[in-house]
Amino acid sequence: MKITKICCIGAGYVGGPTMAVIAQNCPHIQVTVVDLNTERILAWNDENTDNIPIYEPGLDAIVAEARGRNLFFSTEVDKAIDEAQIIFISVNTPTKTYGKGKGMAADLKYIELCARQIAKVAKDDKIVVEKSTLPVRTAEAIKSILDSTGNGVQFQILSNPEFLAEGTAVQDLLNPDRILIGGDTTEEGQKAIQALVDVYSNWVSPEKILTTNVWSSELSKLTANAFLAQRISSINAMSELCEKTGADVNEVAKAIGMDSRIGSKFLKASVGFGGSCFQKDILNLVYIAKSYGLNEVADYWEQVIIMNDHQKRRFSNNIVKTLYNTVADKKIAFLGWAFKKDTNDTRESAAIYVANDLINEHANIAVYDPKVSRKKILSDLDYLETRSSEENAGSIITFDNPYLSCENAHAIAVLTEWDEFVHYDWQKIYDKMQKPAFVFDGRNILNKAELENIGFVYQAIGS
Ligand code: UDX
Ligand code: UDX
Ligand code: ADP
Repeated sequence: MKITKICCIGAGYVGGPTMAVIAQNCPHIQVTVVDLNTERILAWNDENTDNIPIYEPGLDAIVAEARGRNLFFSTEVDKAIDEAQIIFISVNTPTKTYGKGKGMAADLKYIELCARQIAKVAKDDKIVVEKSTLPVRTAEAIKSILDSTGNGVQFQILSNPEFLAEGTAVQDLLNPDRILIGGDTTEEGQKAIQALVDVYSNWVSPEKILTTNVWSSELSKLTANAFLAQRISSINAMSELCEKTGADVNEVAKAIGMDSRIGSKFLKASVGFGGSCFQKDILNLVYIAKSYGLNEVADYWEQVIIMNDHQKRRFSNNIVKTLYNTVADKKIAFLGWAFKKDTNDTRESAAIYVANDLINEHANIAVYDPKVSRKKILSDLDYLETRSSEENAGSIITFDNPYLSCENAHAIAVLTEWDEFVHYDWQKIYDKMQKPAFVFDGRNILNKAELENIGFVYQAIGS
């Protein structure tokens, strides 16, 4: 089948960048990204590509190149479904906040709505691709909804999980480690797989395109995220032991990373991992394991989350303890709010939990983040439902200027590893702070010797 029209439902962190890169590399394919959120679609269509809703280095240029040529953003969901041969589902699958599996299972209501919409609209055969991370065997549910209309339209369901990391989305999409496509072992299934392989082959070399059955593909995505998160919890567990014993976690990470069986990446001790995927996917894995009665498997993976929660709490506790057991009415400056550098995404960011703990201790939090708005910061805190919106707003001051955010502060906490933090004039910051001036480096990015030389009391993770 020659693919000429693709549609993607969901214009978020996954759908937007992925479709932009497909459109850029497949000028012969018309790519339409649809979303129910009108504001988001308007932003994607903003003449000034600085205003597109997702900040990713290099994305604005790709959107500028392809948009209007063969890349379109629209709210006309039905029309796009009707015209497309391949439909990607890229909607959000948050952890359930109600009912059975609350706090653990993935909420599939948005996925189901998409499936029902496709079933209603489709008049000819379609390939439906799961792009969002989904629990194993979701394809089965999608298939049964799609086939329920009985109008003779044939659907093939593929699983094609996205492995991009935020902040490096464009590079990851242009140069993926692998593309994973799972599909049915039937002849029709294999044809559908081939159609999607042909799309990616426009810019990805064939040896990097891996095809499997649907379940392996779905489970590989959860497994990859669980392994990555586990590495962080493992090194964070060692960071606490390092602090007690006089070892330095950076040295330990370097030493073990040189073992080619371990590898050097993803071994940075930190205030804790965040992001929309790791916690959600592991909770989901734990839920699936439990639902099959695999309690040891469930407990094993749950420990990764328990360790991560501990690491965040340990960081805020240490700030309180170091500031003479009280932070009441003290100004604590946060450098960074995003869950990692080079993104404006804040989902599950450690900063949210650390701020929440410190506000419980009556601290005043002054936040500077180069890409995150005050509105977002307040809505992140409100989402925890710890206190009223008014109280949150009264405890958080935000600044567009890092130097002002640190003025008169008792302590600075580094929550995100933005490059610019390293290059600040730290003497200037020190001069305007309360003394003793404390720095709690949750990302181990600042120069300890330089800061101590200036007069700071400097504490990093794991040393
Ligand atoms: C992750 C996976 O990397 C990606 O493959 C998947 O598709 C989605 O989930 P993402 O959440 O965007 O991507 O970012 P990632 O770089 O994995 O970082 C996740 C969190 O771990 C961040 O909070 C980051 O700061 C933290 N982290 C990462 C560490 O604390 N230490 C490390 O060594 C690496
Ligand atoms: C290990 C470390 O590899 C080595 O660096 C250290 O110095 C001593 O301990 P060893 O116990 O000799 O070495 O063998 P290793 O190859 O690590 O295997 C240990 C066990 O793990 C074996 O039973 C092996 O069969 C098993 N294993 C290893 C697996 O089950 N799966 C794997 O992928 C790798
Ligand atoms: P991700 O990180 O997985 O991309 P996001 O929350 O950034 O998640 O994006 C998901 C997008 O999907 C949101 O913009 C949301 O409005 C959109 N969406 C959810 N359900 C539907 C639906 N039924 N039809 C169209 N768009 C949807």
